[in-house]
Amino acid sequence: MLLIDGKKTSEDIKSEIAVQVSKIKKEGGKTPHLAAILVGNDGASQTYVNAKVKSCEQVGFESTLVRLDASVSEEELLQVVADINENSEIDGLIVQLPLPKHISVEKITNKIKPEKDVDGFTPANVGRMTLGWPAYVAATPYGIVELLKRYNVETSGKHCVVIGRSHIVGSPMSILMARNEYPGNCTVTLTHSRTQNLAEITRSADILIVAIGKPEFVTADMVKQGATVIDVGIHRIDDATKKSGFRLIGDVKFEEVSQKVSAITPVPGGVGPMTIASLLYNTLLAAEGKVY
Ligand code: GUN
Repeated sequence: MLLIDGKKTSEDIKSEIAVQVSKIKKEGGKTPHLAAILVGNDGASQTYVNAKVKSCEQVGFESTLVRLDASVSEEELLQVVADINENSEIDGLIVQLPLPKHISVEKITNKIKPEKDVDGFTPANVGRMTLGWPAYVAATPYGIVELLKRYNVETSGKHCVVIGRSHIVGSPMSILMARNEYPGNCTVTLTHSRTQNLAEITRSADILIVAIGKPEFVTADMVKQGATVIDVGIHRIDDATKKSGFRLIGDVKFEEVSQKVSAITPVPGGVGPMTIASLLYNTLLAAEGKVY
């Protein structure tokens, strides 16, 4: 069984980006600059944004963190986005989700200039990705594509089953795996909460990508012998034996599923660390003007 090491791969990618940044700086080019907007005090969001800012420092990017109170109005937030859109110092902009309920995610996302949308969430980038045009691809699906590539997972003609149809992961993942290029050329089945006979479908998957957001949802009886399994889930479970008081588990019951597969991503240390590497990569592309 091959353990697909997202932590190591993400470190490799960050080193590659750092080399590029040194080169840009040496040649007098513009240092890539990522801006992140964080609204409110959601614990997980703060952790993610802090990790993103720290990773910017690691690779030599500039970063700006804009923290806004949870009570900020939609108008005010739209104005902050508009100001960053016009700020030529800043190459990439992300608005950390979720947003407070009184703010429309659609309105805010649609305000982000597609040229700076390094999360790949705007209609322009989702559309371009779907058409196979140059685009900023959302960080999680892009990270998974990169893992499959770097671990030489055979995809052509294979049956790829995706569990979960979110705009951020499942839906773009299904499109990328069906593309006429590597890694892709799969026959794709996109499954979700209303899918009937799910286990029957997942048992026919050569590549199973699980992004359903339910702890240890996928069990060994749902997986074909020798399949490749990608686990996107991440859940905190109370565990008094740990110093932190918790441990992290995925959407896949790793202990039993890993006995059956040819390759699998662990949680933690699988898909998670790849998302930040993808975001940094998109920001580098933005600074170099390589997508638009
Ligand atoms: N919330 C959960 N995942 C993401 C992400 O990739 N980007 C942003 N902006 N917010 C998120």
